[in-house]
Amino acid sequence: MCGIVGYNGSKKAVDILLDGLSKLEYRGYDSAGIAIRDNDIEVFKAKGKLSNLKEKIENKDLKGTCGIGHTRWATHGEPSEVNAHPHVSNDGNVTLVHNGIIENYQELILKLERHDYKLYSETDTEVLANIIDYYYKKYKMGPIDAINRTMVRVRGSYAIAVMFKEYPDEIWVARKDSPMIIGKNEDGTYLASDVPAILKYTKNVYYIDNLEAACLKKDKVIFYDLNGDEIQKELKEIKWDVSAAEKEGYEHFMIKEINEQPDVVKKTINSLVIDNKIDLSKTGLTVEEIKSFKQIYIVACGSAYHVGVCAQYILEDLTRVPVRVEIASEFRYRKPILDKKGLVIVISQSGETADSLAALREAKNQGVKTLGIINVVGSSIAREADHVLYTLAGPEIAVATTKAFSTQLIACYALAIEMGHVKRKINNKLYNNLINDLVKLPEQIEYILKNNTKNVQKISSKFSSIKDAFYIGRGLDYAISLEGSLKLKEVSYIHSEAYAAGELKHGTISLIEDGTLVIGIATQEEIFEKTISNLVEVKSRGAYVVVVAPEGVDVSKVANNTINVPITNKYFYPSLTVVPLQLIGYYITISKGLDVDKPRNLAKSVTVE
Ligand code: AGP
Repeated sequence: MCGIVGYNGSKKAVDILLDGLSKLEYRGYDSAGIAIRDNDIEVFKAKGKLSNLKEKIENKDLKGTCGIGHTRWATHGEPSEVNAHPHVSNDGNVTLVHNGIIENYQELILKLERHDYKLYSETDTEVLANIIDYYYKKYKMGPIDAINRTMVRVRGSYAIAVMFKEYPDEIWVARKDSPMIIGKNEDGTYLASDVPAILKYTKNVYYIDNLEAACLKKDKVIFYDLNGDEIQKELKEIKWDVSAAEKEGYEHFMIKEINEQPDVVKKTINSLVIDNKIDLSKTGLTVEEIKSFKQIYIVACGSAYHVGVCAQYILEDLTRVPVRVEIASEFRYRKPILDKKGLVIVISQSGETADSLAALREAKNQGVKTLGIINVVGSSIAREADHVLYTLAGPEIAVATTKAFSTQLIACYALAIEMGHVKRKINNKLYNNLINDLVKLPEQIEYILKNNTKNVQKISSKFSSIKDAFYIGRGLDYAISLEGSLKLKEVSYIHSEAYAAGELKHGTISLIEDGTLVIGIATQEEIFEKTISNLVEVKSRGAYVVVVAPEGVDVSKVANNTINVPITNKYFYPSLTVVPLQLIGYYITISKGLDVDKPRNLAKSVTVE
């Protein structure tokens, strides 16, 4: 889950590489490096954040107009300068940066040692550089042949950018399962793991597919298939604007993206509600297909999985179709028994999460229809799914997802309402009421941000030194408490658990003692009293109780603090209650002085298993 970038053109490469890497740091930030080609290839690496590398080269006059760069999230070999990328083959012939994991690298090391190669790092990537060099020297058929032979020989995931000593002014790239886009403008050609790295320079990009390679020259890009034959690619325009990848005056990307939710939720609703009707035509799903689904499987990871848990309640209620929600890393190896008349929905912000991609392929191998609910256009899952529903959150930079999560909820609501309607499980009156309530959500989220942020900030300031926290709720409130809990622990490093409120007394309530923070979400009318009595149980054992509840609902008898959200349809409360839960995670984290955008040990897109 690293970030790679490259430039070949008329401008000084060093500035473009460092700027690109700064936009990719959310993908990994334990070490970084660049290789610049002037007459010769010079490599500079540093442990730690990108600022350490910048410091190291600030007095160097690097004129080269061709170079590659990397920011790392360590998988093989600890974060260190030696293990940082770029890696160079034994005699300096091949210089390479890599995002992904080479699974059979141990076996390849033995092969290299049989041919007198010596390795200086613990990384699988250095092995890759030397294997390419091995084939380059053995067959003397040039870069594309060496790269293609390597792609056939290695197992795993990779996006690589390579510079060959004997091919000045050329950068070679190849990919399998790890993301890469290639850009072009009048100043040259660009490559990157993700859009924000090159958006400042060009919106014109090529999408390179799995097991394809390309040569980036100063004025053009040539693509090759695995046979080494040239293939044509269409230049596509990206719709995102540069500012989306900047902080725009906010202190952190996370709080900026939390505040972008009214806008992106509105955009996503407007793309799915046309003339007061749900329109899923962009997905390519026909009414007949939607009617035909007898079982729904939602497969995802992390927060996207939590969207799935919320969607299960709504989909089953409105469509009466059974829904199973699966953690992708378990689903892919569990040999799931899938109903051929089912629909597998894969939810992913990045569209590159390895486990979710593999789950999609598992479903396709079993001949089951697949729908991707995806935020990044042209990402692997988007390209491989039978149908795609794009969320319009724009680029999400903060590692902790917020706005993408909220747009994924909207996508699931729209799917549930439309499927319930075409299956005649909901009548026109309910259909119209649901749509009327749905289109009100953006202004209601705006209202919460305007009127609650200060209150939440005040409440959160009490908890910067806590060690544990619990989030509880029932039904959809339990589903959203899962996300609330993750939003706190992933950025604040405070241990937190989400629990179905009724489950506490079967064990975990023994952890509740004086001052234990318990955040209760209580929006679901039918089970409201039940949730309140569970909160009374923890309160009576000394818990400090914060309750998130609809306006006008009295929870004073149990709550030490109350956070109110506007009244909406029972199915849509996750879109409102998640906002104060995101803010709690944010404010507790910054009160601890932590880097909320780049939490330790995490990366935005998990492209390895
Ligand atoms: C959430 O804040 C995390 N970044 C993480 O749990 C994330 O949701 C998960 O890795 C899935 O990512 P995806 O949506 O890009 O597939």
